[in-house]
Amino acid sequence: MDFQEQAKHYKLRVEAQLATWFDAQAVSSSLHQAMLYSLNAGGKRVRPILVYACADICQVDTSSKSDQDCAAAAIESLHTYSLIHDDLPAMDDDDLRRGLATCHVKFDEATAILAGDALQGLAYEKLSLLDDEVLACRLIRALSSAAGAEGMVAGQMLDLEAEGQELDLSLSELECIHRNKTGALIIAAAQMGALLGGASPEQSRALATYASALGLAFQVQDDILDVVSDSETLGKTQGSDISNNKSTYVSLLGLQEAQALAKQLVEQAKQSLTVFAERGQFLSELADYITHRKN
Ligand code: IPE
Ligand code: IPE
Ligand code: MG
Ligand code: MG
Ligand code: MG
Repeated sequence: MDFQEQAKHYKLRVEAQLATWFDAQAVSSSLHQAMLYSLNAGGKRVRPILVYACADICQVDTSSKSDQDCAAAAIESLHTYSLIHDDLPAMDDDDLRRGLATCHVKFDEATAILAGDALQGLAYEKLSLLDDEVLACRLIRALSSAAGAEGMVAGQMLDLEAEGQELDLSLSELECIHRNKTGALIIAAAQMGALLGGASPEQSRALATYASALGLAFQVQDDILDVVSDSETLGKTQGSDISNNKSTYVSLLGLQEAQALAKQLVEQAKQSLTVFAERGQFLSELADYITHRKN
């Protein structure tokens, strides 16, 4: 399978798993409708793809396919919660996401807040149901520590506090925001894959180094796309960072330097794959995709 086919295969797997989590009767409530609306709006599924690919690269068949599907769906559920909350009026106040009206615009603010809360709870609940309780606990630990006050939420807080400040952030302050708000969950995806794949310590370290560079590159590219893309391609409002007066890699470094940095981080990510030899091909192409993507 080439990169596109493999990525599509992973995407279909996680979407099939997510579909099993909602039974037809429950979906009649507006809470469930809001959860499903955002989950099904059609994200790129980068974090689940990473979970699968990092599990597969280790080549030790320690986890079942269904455990992998559960972990992939859990991180997508958690990520979708973070997007719903990120778009709220009190946060980035955006009205377009994944090509559709944001959750609070389609439903209402309270429903969007609760749908996000419920998607987060769902992720942990489903992980806790894995037969291998030790694995379940390790996966929950990786995901919850990346999602919370030492990870994504910390980054979101710093991002909001920095909004509209008169003085520009320093590069290291901006890096800290990006590594937390976006990098932490991307590292968690790789860690979860490594746990599922029974990675050796050397493999785990390599995947963590890969994901650390990839996670930062991912948000640098997100900042770039906010400037160079258009809302239709992005599926979210182009120029949102500028209208919210955010500090971004583009505002601090300028477009060209931000692009050069993203490329450099992708090269760094790819270098950490040498321990996997030719099996690193998919993750290497995934790193390229991060800077070539258009949305
Ligand atoms: C958007 O994430 C938010 C960031 C962390 C930059 P994605 O670009 O992965 O969004 P979807 O899931 O594809 O919609
Ligand atoms: C959001 O960063 C990161 C999280 C959702 C945790 P952004 O605010 O830049 O993401 P977009 O551009 O709205 O997708
Ligand atoms: Mg934001
Ligand atoms: Mg945002
Ligand atoms: Mg952004």
